[in-house]
Amino acid sequence: MILVTGGAGFIGSNFILDWLATHDEAVVNLDALTYAGNVHNLASVKDDPRYTFVHGDIGDTQLVAGVLERHRPRAIINFAAESHVDRSIHGPEAFVQTNILGTFRLIEATRAYWGLLPEHSAFRFLHISTDEVFGTLGAADQAFSERTQYQPNSPYSASKAASDHLVRAYHHTYGLPVLTTNCSNNYGPYHFPEKLIPLVIHNALEGRALPIYGDGQQIRDWLYVRDHCSAIRRVLEAGVPGETYNIGGWNERANLDVVHTLCDILDELSPKAGGGSYRDQITFVTDRPGHDRRYAIDARKIEAELDWRPAETFESGIRKTVRWYLDNAEWVRGVASGSYRNWIEKQYA
Ligand code: NAD
Ligand code: TYD
Repeated sequence: MILVTGGAGFIGSNFILDWLATHDEAVVNLDALTYAGNVHNLASVKDDPRYTFVHGDIGDTQLVAGVLERHRPRAIINFAAESHVDRSIHGPEAFVQTNILGTFRLIEATRAYWGLLPEHSAFRFLHISTDEVFGTLGAADQAFSERTQYQPNSPYSASKAASDHLVRAYHHTYGLPVLTTNCSNNYGPYHFPEKLIPLVIHNALEGRALPIYGDGQQIRDWLYVRDHCSAIRRVLEAGVPGETYNIGGWNERANLDVVHTLCDILDELSPKAGGGSYRDQITFVTDRPGHDRRYAIDARKIEAELDWRPAETFESGIRKTVRWYLDNAEWVRGVASGSYRNWIEKQYA
């Protein structure tokens, strides 16, 4: 039995679907169902006897202790977080609450549970983090390695950095067998359409503007979500407690290039009714405050020590992703929140 937190979100739900497709072992999903949590992502496994959903907050100490006592997981994978940089600029408190205090309470409850386990050393707490904790790179800089200094620049990345430090401290102070992964930007199915790639696909098909912050030359390092999931499984299986692993697929792309690629695939797979290209909908808007210029992951450690490689290139992954959104328009309509876009549009118009 493993416990996944935040399993109704983008990466967590992909992880659970993959896990149940490739393992016999059961999964408990603890999720607070914030705006980003969507149980429909897991509709295909909801009646699977190996799947249990618990509605709750990682910061609810009593509830977490009860879940651990009842289900007795051999590992916890902590995906639960507030995850959107723009939201963290607009309202940082929820990020402090869940990412810092929530992780603290989860790991504190975990420590109590772990302390009484007979299989003490086999237990794992795997904390899912981001490359954004390292701050920003200049054009000439090397990629982020596991030794790169933390220099978070947004309330989101600062809150993730704080949680990473707590997790690290629980290993050094109490000996809790923790693992931390720092992954680059993910994309793929079930991605909430507030993030660049699903937002652009959704807006393009709706005939709406495709907002590019600033000059669009900011660089992100993209990884197909199922490749992130395979890396997490590998770290859980063979990672060394106390170690951190950077995860990425060597796919640096400027935002504008990503949006051009999406428009070109959409032009091919779902041509605009009135003719013309989706590129015509691109609109440059005011830049995000404190916008990090470049992220890039040096993935040599996980490749060399755990023999992990991504299965998708950016080209194959992005094509799969566009097809998924075209085939699942209902899902997108179900989660796209008009009120949320309103404040984004006000903020960056
Ligand atoms: P997401 O926003 O899509 O999902 C987060 C999930 O956590 C939701 O289901 C939400 O309901 C749940 N949640 C939020 N607060 C909670 C709480 N207090 N208790 C329990 N559940 C709660 O996020 P995501 O994109 O799937 O990211 C998952 C994790 O991976 C996060 O920790 C994020 O920092 C990290 N990460 C994301 C990316 C990316 O590109 N999306 C890249 C690297 C790392
Ligand atoms: P996002 O998907 O929000 O991820 P993150 O901020 O965690 O990297 O944004 C990816 C990049 O795209 C980032 O540089 C901001 C930019 N961006 C836009 O240009 N327009 C948009 O509408 C959004 C949501 C993001």
